Amino acid sequence: MQKDNLVYVSSGKAKDIYENSNGTLIFEFTDRVTAFDGKKKSECNEKGEITCKVAEYWFKILEKNGIPTHYIECPTSTSMIVKRLDIVPVEVIWRNYAAGSLLRRYEAGDIILPEGVEPKEGSPIPGGMIEFTTKFEAVDRPVSIDEILSNSWLSKEEVDYITDLTKRINEIMAQELATSGIILADFKVEYGRTSDGEIILADEAGTPDGCRFWMKNDFEKGIITSLDKDVFRKDTGDLTLAYRELFNKLQRTNM
Ligand code: TMP
Ligand code: ASP
Repeated sequence: MQKDNLVYVSSGKAKDIYENSNGTLIFEFTDRVTAFDGKKKSECNEKGEITCKVAEYWFKILEKNGIPTHYIECPTSTSMIVKRLDIVPVEVIWRNYAAGSLLRRYEAGDIILPEGVEPKEGSPIPGGMIEFTTKFEAVDRPVSIDEILSNSWLSKEEVDYITDLTKRINEIMAQELATSGIILADFKVEYGRTSDGEIILADEAGTPDGCRFWMKNDFEKGIITSLDKDVFRKDTGDLTLAYRELFNKLQRTNM
């Protein structure tokens, strides 16, 4: 991407952000990979290109299904033009199965699991569950709806709206993935407000950086095979190969 006429805005864990002269933003998806709040870092060949394509793939499907998003277009294979938003200061996590920090917090005695959920990776969470974390603190910290309301980060109506949108995103993605033999274990999304105050989907959605994807045929045999960043978090394989396999599966059945 030619960056001479762009203004650098900031860098996230995996993306660099620039501003266009017309006020839209450009996300440049890099090969950087980080986990555990940046404590573990690396670079993975092709990662930027695959995550950009996967994010584009999902934005198009979500838009088609009535989910408003900030996506505009991808001018190159690693960059995406998006609407500039006022980002809501909470991240939203939807879980269909127990994994990751849910189990770590349970093991540390910080939370109790929802009724009927076994304390082991892969336990289904009946009906799913939503969680919120901080977005603009040094470390993402789980927050209750009461804290969100008392800080005026969102109104009660906005919490309900975001909960409903996230539930719909889960249904749309889980259904699409099922046709590719993939289980959507959990995911994280972010929202932002447009200048008219409308809340729409922001950041990236449905990428293997921000979701857990498990191979369905292995899961049915009691084995968890991840096609997402857990491969890097747990050092269980080659991240580029896992991301490429995910993208190929999505493309084969849906594109
Ligand atoms: P967790 O188990 O670490 O809380 O993560 C749940 C899901 O949300 C998982 O798919 C990874 C994703 N996630 C992010 O993408 N970024 C984050 O900062 C967090 C906390 C989670
Ligand atoms: N919050 C974690 C991190 O900072 C989420 C992850 O592992 O992706 O990286």
